[in-house]
This record gives sequence, structure tokens and C-alpha cells, in this order.
Amino acid sequence: MADAAEVLLRLDGVAVTDPLDGVELVHPISFTVRRGAVLGIVGESGSGKTLTCRAVLGILPDRLQVSAGTIELFGRDTATLSAKEWTAWRGTRIGAVFQDPGSYLNPSIRVGPQVAEVLRVKAGLGRRDARRRAVELLGAVRLPDPDFVYQQYPHELSGGMLQRVLIASAIALEPEVLIADEATTALDVTVQAEILDLLIELKERIGLALIVVAHDLAVVAQLCDEVLVMRDGEVVEHGTCDQVLGAPQHPYTRLLISEHHQYGLDRFRSGVAPRTEVLDRV
Ligand SMILES: Nc1ncnc2c1ncn2[C@@H]1O[C@H](COP(=O)(O)OP(=O)(O)O)[C@@H](O)[C@H]1O
Ligand SMILES: [Mg+2]
Repeated sequence: MADAAEVLLRLDGVAVTDPLDGVELVHPISFTVRRGAVLGIVGESGSGKTLTCRAVLGILPDRLQVSAGTIELFGRDTATLSAKEWTAWRGTRIGAVFQDPGSYLNPSIRVGPQVAEVLRVKAGLGRRDARRRAVELLGAVRLPDPDFVYQQYPHELSGGMLQRVLIASAIALEPEVLIADEATTALDVTVQAEILDLLIELKERIGLALIVVAHDLAVVAQLCDEVLVMRDGEVVEHGTCDQVLGAPQHPYTRLLISEHHQYGLDRFRSGVAPRTEVLDRV
């Protein structure tokens, strides 16, 4: 590719280890994410998807460590970033939405002001502009009656609504890289499709690069350029979406596809003839 887009994120042989027992939870993993690209990560629960995302964000839990390899973000080795540099980047250049929305919002503050605060602190907007923009963002993630939702406390909203508030907050500053770790899993199918459309629109408008961790292969098929399939902390398959979903090489990928086939995976795969012969072999 002569005019390949700029590399925003590069993992080279990154492993995550629990130093207490020396267990390697994520085995050396390498991938690249370019501006405007969408990478999907799929795999069963416990396969290392979230730890990989957290390693990228520099927020591994407790004692876990990146024990091998390098993570390069915006051309910088993240191991050399100071806490101050991380704070400046998180939320502005790189954002994330995880699957448990409740734990990321302050229960005693109304949700709208929490989004507005991000705009005030990190984008320097005045109080009134921050409020207006926050309401716009709540509307953009398809929350009904955003003015009303703005005034509600987290406990007054459903899980799906909270998840949308977090997505609004994560995209507020139009980051260059957004990690969505099962971010839409809890939402119903229609809302999920709307949020994914919104992310695609952002990708096209601001060149957002996305890492989408999903249980649902249909989401990946709809959205991603490239797919990583993980199992037991290891990448078992990595290729373009069409390669991985259309002509899976690894038995585990075929198993995942066959599990999803009954839900109508093929209707999400535009421009690719259904490869039923592959699925039939599983
Ligand atoms: N804080 C932690 N301490 C020790 N082990 C952990 C911790 N978090 C996750 N793990 C283990 O690491 C593995 C990968 O977890 P995770 O990345 O959360 O999987 P996934 O997101 O694919 O479901 C699992 O075996 C999990 O039990
Ligand atoms: Mg996870």
C-alpha cells in the first residue's frame, strides 16, 4: 500500500504476566492499528481480550505487568510515558469504553454534568458550551430526551443507557483511537446497531481508529477491517475480516463461526458470497 494510513498503535510481542505466580496470561501478541481502521478482537471469555486492551491503555489491574514486547502509541513507546503524559492522552487522544458502565460513573453526580466535566477539563469549554455539547452528545448516542437524561443520576438509568452515556463521554473529545471492550454487548440489537453506525460515522468523519472487542461475530463482520481471534491468551488467527470469517484456517475460528451461523452471520457480510462450504466442514 503506497499511501497506507498512519500507524497509531503497534504492539510487538506484548505479553502480560502475573508476577506472583509467573503465569503468562497474554502470550506475545502483535498487531498494528492505522488511522481510520477497525480491528475486531473475538474469543471466548478469559481469552485475554480485556487484558490486551488494558495493556494498551496502561491500566492493567493490580500487579499484572507487561512482561515482554513493546506498545507504541502515536509513535511513542508507552513504557516511556510519564503519568502526566498518560493523563493528557487518555480521554483526549485515546478513549475506552468497557462493559461494566456502573463502575465508571460517580453515583452521586448527575450523568450530564459528568460528561460536561470532561469537556470543561480536557477541552477547556466554558460551563454553558460544555452543557450544550454534552446534551448534543447524549442525543448522538441515541438517548431519548437528552435534556432530561442530562439531569438524571446513574441509578435512574438502565445498563444500556449508562453504556451510552459512557460512549458519549468517550467520544466527547473525538479521540484518535477508541477501544470498545464489549461496549455494546448489553444493549439490545437495534440500539447496538445504532451505536455501531455512530462509531462508523466518527471513523469516517474524524479518522477514528477502533478496537472492537465483541462476543458477537456479527458485530465484527459488520464493522471490522481486520480480526484477531484469541483463545487462552493466544492469537490463533489474524487476518482481514473476509479472510477470517470467509475462509477461517483455525478449527477454533470455525467453531466460533458455526456457533454464530445460526444467528444469521452472513447477512452482515456485504460483498462476500456466503462460504457455506467452509461452515459445513466444521
Ligand atoms: N486482575 C487479574 N489478576 C489475575 N488474573 C487475571 C486478572 N484479570 C484477568 N485475569 C486472568 O487473565 C485471563 C484473561 O482475562 P481477560 O483479559 O479478562 O479475558 P477476556 O476479556 O477475554 O474475557 C483470564 O484467565 C483471567 O482469569
Ligand atoms: Mg473481557
